[in-house]
Amino acid sequence: MISREISPGVFILELEGQKRLATRSDDIVPVYGERIQEGYRIWDPFRSKLAALLLKGRSARPLLERDAKVLYLGAATGTTVSHVSDIVRDGLVYAVEFSPRSMRDLIRLCEKRNNIVPILADASRPEEYASLLEPVDLVYQDVSSRNQAEIVSNNCARYLKPGGELIFMLKTRSVDVTASPEAVLQAERKKLQGLDLLPVLDLLPFHQDHFAISGRKS
Ligand SMILES: C[S@@+](CC[C@H](N)C(=O)[O-])C[C@H]1O[C@@H](n2cnc3c(N)ncnc32)[C@H](O)[C@@H]1O
Repeated sequence: MISREISPGVFILELEGQKRLATRSDDIVPVYGERIQEGYRIWDPFRSKLAALLLKGRSARPLLERDAKVLYLGAATGTTVSHVSDIVRDGLVYAVEFSPRSMRDLIRLCEKRNNIVPILADASRPEEYASLLEPVDLVYQDVSSRNQAEIVSNNCARYLKPGGELIFMLKTRSVDVTASPEAVLQAERKKLQGLDLLPVLDLLPFHQDHFAISGRKS
């Protein structure tokens, strides 16, 4: 098996003639049924928007350093969080999720890893977890609610370090099902204040009506 590190802790494997994205973990038990091969956890772009983004061209720049601190909004049961946790081995992932049901599974994952802080909270009220957080290097958001742009904007204003990065997975249908995805994208992008935005990538063919908006805090 051939492996190439495209960013700290993120690998492209050549497996049975196919290129697959992966992270490395000491854990040999799958988190969500993913394939594990010689210590590499295969990262499925159809299950994770961050994996889709990396495969669509984000890989030209390093994603995260090993000691980075990440605020992850919309952690769900931890599918993508688990790969971010693999990447920031010496850092921390603050994982915010407001569904108690998803949080139960997320806590099971946290019990096996010492770099995820689970936070049961509503990301639209960032002041409620102020006592648990420190300034972070990356704010990553995947919450698919109507006020996605306001949520990410407020969290970046509070918790993103100057020069830190934002990755915002915008689901346009959650904002307005009647408007065109392009019109929603342009309107939501304008709501992001205090950030130098990079060109937007759509996540097709992996995720329909989803756009990755990236940027840096000025
Ligand atoms: C699309 S799922 C996230 C999938 C996850 N990011 C992954 O890749 O493994 C969206 C999640 O955001 C959560 N969510 C939605 N609005 C939220 C809010 N205001 N605060 C916290 N979590 C929220 C939902 O409960 C759901 O678990």
